[in-house]
Amino acid sequence: MGKDVIIACDFSSAEDTFKFLDKFSGRKPFVKIGMELFYAEGPSIVKEIKARGHKIFLDLKLHDIPNTVKKSMSVLSRLDVDMTNLHAAGTVRMMEAAIEGLTREDGTRPILIAVTQLTSTDQESMEKDLLINEPIDKVVMHYASNAKAAGLDGVVCSPLEAEKVHNTCGKDFITVTPGVRFADGDIGDQKRVMTPAAAKEIGSDYIVVGRPITAAADPVAAYERCVKEFCD
Ligand code: C5P
Repeated sequence: MGKDVIIACDFSSAEDTFKFLDKFSGRKPFVKIGMELFYAEGPSIVKEIKARGHKIFLDLKLHDIPNTVKKSMSVLSRLDVDMTNLHAAGTVRMMEAAIEGLTREDGTRPILIAVTQLTSTDQESMEKDLLINEPIDKVVMHYASNAKAAGLDGVVCSPLEAEKVHNTCGKDFITVTPGVRFADGDIGDQKRVMTPAAAKEIGSDYIVVGRPITAAADPVAAYERCVKEFCD
């Protein structure tokens, strides 16, 4: 599995997104399109970025009844994205349905990864709001195992969990990890962070990097620094 840096394009309009991507003349970084941009611009933003030659991780985190997820995944698959995701909390059956919907007639499909517990959920809120009383670590690994059993390719997780996910689900099970910051950079609202070099060391397969690149004075240089630390 190729290691890569995915830029989180957390912009609210196509205009801002293209202004940002235009800085990368010649370079075609792997980009993540999240709910904000997708809901603002619709599927056309995916097609336009794809037409420019970028790989796309469409981060819409589906979670619904299996039939609805299956049908929605088949629509996303036709958009020709390279990676997409769902909530493992939707159950193994929902994840299996997602794979069915995502698989194209020729047998190919985008990489499908699961969100386990959101990193914004902590032990206290999981117990109080969700009535899940197991240690969060155990819950995350259980959800990752469910995702693997359903045939998914990997999970989104904190870089701090990547090693354990690989130990639990195997080396080939992909870990996509946000929460990446440069050693000399701003942490912002992320709590548990890791440098690109440390994420590489611990075995992350893809890092998702937003503001350290999008808010940098020189985004291209910041991206190249990530690639150098993580991929080389
Ligand atoms: O700007 P920053 O590098 O913090 O952006 C990280 C990206 O990864 C954002 O798009 C954020 O929504 C996403 N993400 C995250 N933590 C998760 C899942 C997704 O930061 N657990």
